[in-house]
Amino acid sequence: MKKDNKYWFNQLEKYVAGGSSTGSKRATLQPEEPSVIVKGEGCRVYDANKKEYIDFRNGLGPITLGYNYKEVNSAIKRQLNKGIVYGHPTPLEAEVAKMFTKIIPCAESVRFLKTGGEALAACIKLSRAYTNKKHVIQIGYNGWINTLSEGAKLNPRDESTGVPLGITEELSQLHHTVSWNDEQTVKQLYETYKGDIAAIVVAADYEEIEKGQTFYPFLRNITKKNKSVLVFDEIVTGFRIALGGVSEYFNVVPDLTVFAKGIANGMPLSCFCGKKEIMNFVTKGATISSTYGGEALSLAACKQVIKIYQKEPVINHLWEMGEKLFGALNRLFEEKNYDIQVKGFPPCAIFVTRDQSFLQEFFKRAYANGVSLYNVSYVNYSHKEKDIDEVIKRLSDC
Ligand SMILES: Cc1ncc(COP(=O)(O)O)c(C=O)c1O
Repeated sequence: MKKDNKYWFNQLEKYVAGGSSTGSKRATLQPEEPSVIVKGEGCRVYDANKKEYIDFRNGLGPITLGYNYKEVNSAIKRQLNKGIVYGHPTPLEAEVAKMFTKIIPCAESVRFLKTGGEALAACIKLSRAYTNKKHVIQIGYNGWINTLSEGAKLNPRDESTGVPLGITEELSQLHHTVSWNDEQTVKQLYETYKGDIAAIVVAADYEEIEKGQTFYPFLRNITKKNKSVLVFDEIVTGFRIALGGVSEYFNVVPDLTVFAKGIANGMPLSCFCGKKEIMNFVTKGATISSTYGGEALSLAACKQVIKIYQKEPVINHLWEMGEKLFGALNRLFEEKNYDIQVKGFPPCAIFVTRDQSFLQEFFKRAYANGVSLYNVSYVNYSHKEKDIDEVIKRLSDC
């Protein structure tokens, strides 16, 4: 039997619950969308039919330098020859933690885990321990494990109606979903739950991210005034709009923050960090501990990624290439009179439309023409001018 895209699509549907271990990776736009990717190189990926795509999904965020990036691969291989995980920490754990304290504005003390959602769950636990308060306000998607309140995002695109399935009402009532830039509802919640809000956890809204200019200072002030912990979810924004994420860009320092996608060019690593007096609760009863927390291959990758960011203009490149691509796409949509726009900051821009089915149709045509897009599409450091020119050509007839 030919092991092509169709074969792998059927195997995934048959053996993997929901067709993929990551909901958003399941290939729904058949037959144009690749059901599997077998190889990536720079800014290009290849499916089981050997078709090439210039890729803007980038693993849904973590690939910031490029696929099969030689310097990062070499760092991983060097560490692989010495071991993956031991019964004690590696020197890398201290080294990379120290690097984070230099680049992340709030990071006095650092811990590593594997996924973004897990690290945010850790921040919520620490916030409750530190403040001895119960309620949590959540803005944006914070990972499946934190999808607890009515109306919470089940994934970056879909919202739950009512209490999410699998969550008890009692637990759900302690979590409150608030929309981006909705200062009024935040104020109301502080009125309703006077003295009992442990934390605000906030992930930026990509479409209206510039409103962070006033919204982040508002959140900083209200949390400070009410003695709540302010937690930034920098899982998408960190290492993209600035090395230190929205905190550096908008110059607002939270109490705790989470970085994940982007810090290790695809290796599974998340980092939560912040004020020492809060972080110290990890060993003061609010235990957070994982066998794989300080796994060495991911830390070796992360150390190399940070070094590359520090010696090369990665962030500038993401802004420049994003501007070039999304500017050209907006002009194309205008010319063709399509109800699609790309909005937000170029390193994490989002496709916006009033007609979702047409946007999906456009993505289908893009796949057919060898371009792999996603609602939030990312450029990486390996997308060079000529690649973007090629993309614009490939998309001109879509
Ligand atoms: C803003 C944001 N926060 C949290 C998460 C969850 O991270 P992870 O999937 O690594 O648990 C995601 C993942 O898409 C995200 O985009």
